[in-house]
Amino acid sequence: MERLQKVIANSGYTSRRKAEELIQAGKVKVNGQVVREMGVRVTSRDTIAVEGYILKNEEKEYYLLNKPRGIITSTNDELGRKTVTDFIATTKRIYPVGRLDYDTTGVLLLTNDGELTNLLIHPRNSIDKIYIAKVKGLVGKKQVSLLQNGVMLDGVKTAKAKVRVKKYDKKTDTSLVELCIHEGKNHQVKKMFEAIGYTVLKLRRDQFCFLRVDDLKAGSYRKLSPKEVKKLYFEATKNDK
Ligand code: URA
Repeated sequence: MERLQKVIANSGYTSRRKAEELIQAGKVKVNGQVVREMGVRVTSRDTIAVEGYILKNEEKEYYLLNKPRGIITSTNDELGRKTVTDFIATTKRIYPVGRLDYDTTGVLLLTNDGELTNLLIHPRNSIDKIYIAKVKGLVGKKQVSLLQNGVMLDGVKTAKAKVRVKKYDKKTDTSLVELCIHEGKNHQVKKMFEAIGYTVLKLRRDQFCFLRVDDLKAGSYRKLSPKEVKKLYFEATKNDK
């Protein structure tokens, strides 16, 4: 027995908050009956329809894609452009876990497991993400320390980060900087550099939680092993324990 709003969120249809709004708006039916009150408990034998769409108890799939540059992180695009889900050969309704910018490359998880998605993107669960940013100019100790201690983005200070300069190329006057952050604000890495007066020229996500791109070529993907899925659940819930 689970709460209706949780079951809707876990199906990947929408977030728990949106599910509550849909319930209150009378857009959810359990076994053909509209349910408006919060906290109703359902089982896997109940038929749940949200805005007319019947939630299925689908088998879960998990993929790690090395996202190429120039692709949008979305399930569909109104202009008909290729999206990250077009790379994966599946009949399931999978979607990306979080977002990478159009021009960002690297590790992107895709799944139809709404429960895991919600856990992984919830700020409380502090999932580490490692980015490699190529930025214009020389990034020195002072800048590293600013990024590490947090910079102001839209009036809010970013959380502590791990930052190290991997390389400085004198010829092109560019630095290669590795950042480990656990927040996932929109364009966070680019904005963090912007806040200290630098421009990101290229951005790659090397690691999401413990998952790395390794030798996957851009545009290639692989399925996660059951062991990796179990470990993701463990990492995404360890703050609750
Ligand atoms: N930070 C960004 O600026 N862009 C991304 O795609 C990911 C993190």
